Order: sequence, then C-alpha cells, then structure tokens
Amino acid sequence: EKGNYRHFMQKEIFEQPTVVAQTLRSYLRQVDQSVALPQIDFDLSTIKRITIVACGTSYYAGMIAKYWLETFARLPVDIDVASEFRYRDPVLEPGGLALFISQSGETADTLAALRHCRAAGQTIAVVVNVPTSSMAREADLLLPTHAGPEIGVASTKAFTCQLAVLAALAAHLAVKRGRMDRAEEAEVVQHLLEVPACFNAALAHDDEIAAMAHLIAPARDVLYLGRGPDYPLALEGALKLKEISYIHAEGYASGEMKHGPIALIDEAVPVIVLAPSGPLFEKTVSNMQEVRARGGKVVLISDAAGIAEAGDGCIATIEMPQVHPLIAPLIYAVPVQLLAYHVACAKGTDVDQPRNLAKSVTVE
Ligand code: F6R
Repeated sequence: EKGNYRHFMQKEIFEQPTVVAQTLRSYLRQVDQSVALPQIDFDLSTIKRITIVACGTSYYAGMIAKYWLETFARLPVDIDVASEFRYRDPVLEPGGLALFISQSGETADTLAALRHCRAAGQTIAVVVNVPTSSMAREADLLLPTHAGPEIGVASTKAFTCQLAVLAALAAHLAVKRGRMDRAEEAEVVQHLLEVPACFNAALAHDDEIAAMAHLIAPARDVLYLGRGPDYPLALEGALKLKEISYIHAEGYASGEMKHGPIALIDEAVPVIVLAPSGPLFEKTVSNMQEVRARGGKVVLISDAAGIAEAGDGCIATIEMPQVHPLIAPLIYAVPVQLLAYHVACAKGTDVDQPRNLAKSVTVE
C-alpha cells in the first residue's frame, strides 16, 4: 500500500497536509473560529500545573507544547522523558493535569508514568494516535490524533498531528483561563487552518532537498541548531537522522553552541540551522558566523527574509514559506524529515525498518 512511494516513511511525510487537516477538523470550529476539545466533562480552568511525559519524538512534541502552554495559557509546565520521570519521585500537587503524548499508546515507560500520575491524583490527558490503545482507555481527557496507521518506524505524520492537537489545547486552555480573547482565538484558528497549504509549500522542496543529500551523507557528525520551539525541532531532526541514516547527529539550542559543542566544528561537520526570521534571528545569525569562522558548513532552513539576511556563505538554503511563529514548528518539521529521508536513501539504509528499532517499545 505504498502507492507511488518508495517507502512508507516517504508516503507518511507526504500525507501530512491531509492527516493534519483531518486532525484539526475535530478541534477547530470553523463557524465561530473557535477551538473545541472533544469529550470534555470537567473544568479545565482550574488546572494549576501541567506535567508532560513522553518518549522520543513524542517527547519533542511535548517540549514544543511547553512553549505554547506557557506563552498562551501562562500555565507552568514540567516535562520529562517517561523513563526518568517514573523513577525520580516527582512532586505532583493536587489539581495538576498530567499530559501523555504517544503515537502507539503502548510505550511501556509512558504507560507506567501515566499510572503513577493517576495514583498521585492527577487528571490524565492523553494525545494518542491509536484510539484502542491502553493509554487511550486510561485517559480522563482523550485527545486523539487522526494520522492513520504509521508504518515507518521513524515517526513523521504522528508528530505533526500531535503538534496540531497540542497547539489547539494550548489555545483552548488560554481561552479558559482568560488569557486569550475571542479575536485572538480566531486568529490562532486561522493560522492553524493555514497549516495544510504551508505543508504543501514545504513539500514542494522535495527534489531540491534530495539533491542536497550528498552534502550530508558523507558526514560522520551533524549538528542541528534552533531557538525557542525550533530547539526541540533541532533535537527531532538529529533523532530522525540518527535513526534512519546512522549518522551521529545532535541537536542544540543555538545559544548553547559556544558552551561546548563548538569544539566539534570543522570542515567535515555540517550544521543544520532551523531559524524562521523574527526577533531572535539576529542572534542565530551570529551563532552561524561562529560556526562558519571555524570552517563549519551551514545549511540554513529559513524563510525568504531570513535567507536574504543570512543565506550568503551557507552551503545550502531551504526556503520555507513565511509563516506565523505558532505554526513554524509544524512547517519546519517537513524539511527536517525530508533531509533525513533523502540522506538515508543516499546511504542505502533500510528507511522503514532501521536496525535495532521497533515501532512500539513495550519493554522498559
Ligand atoms: C522516533 C520514534 C520514537 C518514538 C518513541 C515513542 O522516530 O519513532 O522515538 O517517538 O518510541 O513512541 P510513542 O509515541 O508510540 O509512545
């Protein structure tokens, strides 16, 4: 059922405009431009703190959600990977919401963390792609993603669908807590509705990204840099590349470079910079200069304004549409996924079944 695609992963990357639109349909009401959560029978306005727990790519979706929940809803957010969370005796106060994010809904560590939070009296919210899964069954608030079955071991469409749901959740909580008025809510809805078209614009760079795979494929190490919500996306980019191409990659917050990883930079290390133009862009430009001054090769993923400002001296640039900062992490996920995919193809690895990995990790 791969259709015209070579791999499930490739098919799933290209399904994103459709499945994210499908997911958003159950969270956005077009009539009054509002955000509505399915199946909700308790008052979310009383929540005092959110604890997010997940693994792998789903954890990175949670890290991005932390920025949104803090910015829009002004809610304090803790986040941890499930395997650490369970064993560190976390402080869970009454009135807290524990939010679990999982494609499969069966990841053993995440499920154990969920049960731990339930026993500690937290309200349990779950963002999950498999509606019949254990996590879906054990949720107080079930927030489904409608990505459809994800076959490729490396998660792609489930990730962007998670982000869509989490953005809607952040906006909903912001409204409930009186931090967002009707006009602002309508604006968020409008931006989310633009996502599928922006995905298509990002996917249009597929051939161009395939053509630059040879710049990355010979590398032994690759760094990904980003700021704000693009920092978790840098972590996700590095994970994707590691998983399917077996190239060692690391994600860093752009400003953290000079505190250590810059020691790694030489002519052999490509540095992928994820940086939409905006108030912090200038700072990222100086981080790129630090890389270039040491012979590092920068691939800049930005919009036209960002590329005009900083594109000179990069070995390659990938131009994303100019998008609202809220949706940038979703849109910038596409070139990150395509780059990992094409580098893996160039190396001839098994994209859909990478060595040592399983689709659902039900051991602890
Ligand atoms: C990365 C990947 C894994 C999963 C992780 C959590 O491409 O697929 O890192 O994200 O194993 O799985 P779920 O989301 O099913 O809990």
